[in-house]
Amino acid sequence: MALRTLLPSIPKLILFSSTRNSTAFCKSSPLNRSVILNTCSNFKSFSTDSNFMVLGIETSCDDTGCAIVDSNGTILGESLHSQLKVHLDHGGIVPPVASDLHRAHIDQVVDEAIRASGVDIYDIAAIATTNRPGLPLSLEIGLLKGKKMARDLGVPFIPIHHMEAHALTIRMLEKDVQFPFLVLLASGGHCILAVAQQVDKFLILGQTINNAPGEQFDKAARKLNLKVIPGLENVCGGAAIEILARKGYSSAFPFSTSMTQYQDCNFSFAGITMNLYGHVKKIQKKFDLVDGDILPGLEDLCASYQHAVTKHICQRLQRAMEFVDRKELIPLGQGPRAFVVSGGVASNRYIKMAMEVICSEYDYKLYAPPPRLCTDNGVMIAWNGVERWKAQSGIAENLDDVDFYGKCPIGTDISQEVAAESIKCKWIKLKALRQMSEFVYLDEAQR
Ligand code: KG4
Ligand code: ZN
Repeated sequence: MALRTLLPSIPKLILFSSTRNSTAFCKSSPLNRSVILNTCSNFKSFSTDSNFMVLGIETSCDDTGCAIVDSNGTILGESLHSQLKVHLDHGGIVPPVASDLHRAHIDQVVDEAIRASGVDIYDIAAIATTNRPGLPLSLEIGLLKGKKMARDLGVPFIPIHHMEAHALTIRMLEKDVQFPFLVLLASGGHCILAVAQQVDKFLILGQTINNAPGEQFDKAARKLNLKVIPGLENVCGGAAIEILARKGYSSAFPFSTSMTQYQDCNFSFAGITMNLYGHVKKIQKKFDLVDGDILPGLEDLCASYQHAVTKHICQRLQRAMEFVDRKELIPLGQGPRAFVVSGGVASNRYIKMAMEVICSEYDYKLYAPPPRLCTDNGVMIAWNGVERWKAQSGIAENLDDVDFYGKCPIGTDISQEVAAESIKCKWIKLKALRQMSEFVYLDEAQR
């Protein structure tokens, strides 16, 4: 695999392999106009301030997404095909199945997004596509499509880091989220606490040492066989647990707190799920049940499990905020600093409410995209393309060199530095949250 896929962050001349008429090309797109200018007038810098549009493609896991977003953050058209139902029936994601479904739907999804936008495809300034990290077989499908489109249209190609896209989505919606900001990325494959310093510059304070929280929610939901419960047949594990947890008491079942012996910001969720399995076993024994049977006290069990995951996340977040203060990584400005949470797990209202408690103690404001933009979608990829284009960073120089990567860090790992500080925290209590009535919760969930 070719390693060099990205350019340094300086404006550069892009050479097109377009067979299209260059005058028409020049007329229709402000971006391309400036590119033509470059070729004619000796490396003048790209125009990045006029309005332009980027088409984004996402296929890193089990969602085939495409969207066209303009440089102001307006979503002009989008389309999403979810494979959720198929994978729920398979008991988890089977990579070759995911890949086949991407292949079957990618053309239609892209066509739909273009049709919905009503824009002339030749007015698109660039194609952005997720090429890392993710399921290699899935990434490959989107990448082939994105590169082909860039070639056919003769426009620049921007390879996108999936987690960077999750982190930056909020800047499309909330213009006051400026760099640097603290960010938690929690999804089915990742759990990363980082300081976003620039579009292309992240400091990793901590990350999961085994599984991601979304993956654990999905596992737990499978163990509890939640998909047979009416109304939960077509929802992902995390959402199913959250829905049931709303009706349960989070202190009903004891869970031990994860990683308390390590004074760092890394995560581990596997032990919490093992704890859950232990409770399941006991209940099954008590009521003479077997795997697949719906357990009595299911709501309480889900609420207690969700709380244990939340508490672990909040403790690592609290330490990260202490570390940021100690190292003055995010200056205290006029108002509160920004803490962004994104990725599928950031759809969880209970987790967000708990994090809001932590934020208020440390003078942060919590920002999260709405659930439909927290889970995977094409919009976040297109917007990341806009951000990268504005910053003139990471635009492919040679399409043939762009490859896909199953694993790829989002930035510089400074988790050892965090651990070396041995920060002891006085844990902020989440009691108020535990005692909240369902009504308050549902009220909050409407927000
Ligand atoms: O970001 P995403 O769509 O895909 C990945 O990049 O992994 O995240 C999907 C994950 C799934 O594991 C799903 O169970 C979890 O996000 N998720 C949730 C909720 N909605 C989705 N987890 C907890 N609570 C939710 N409401
Ligand atoms: Zn994701």
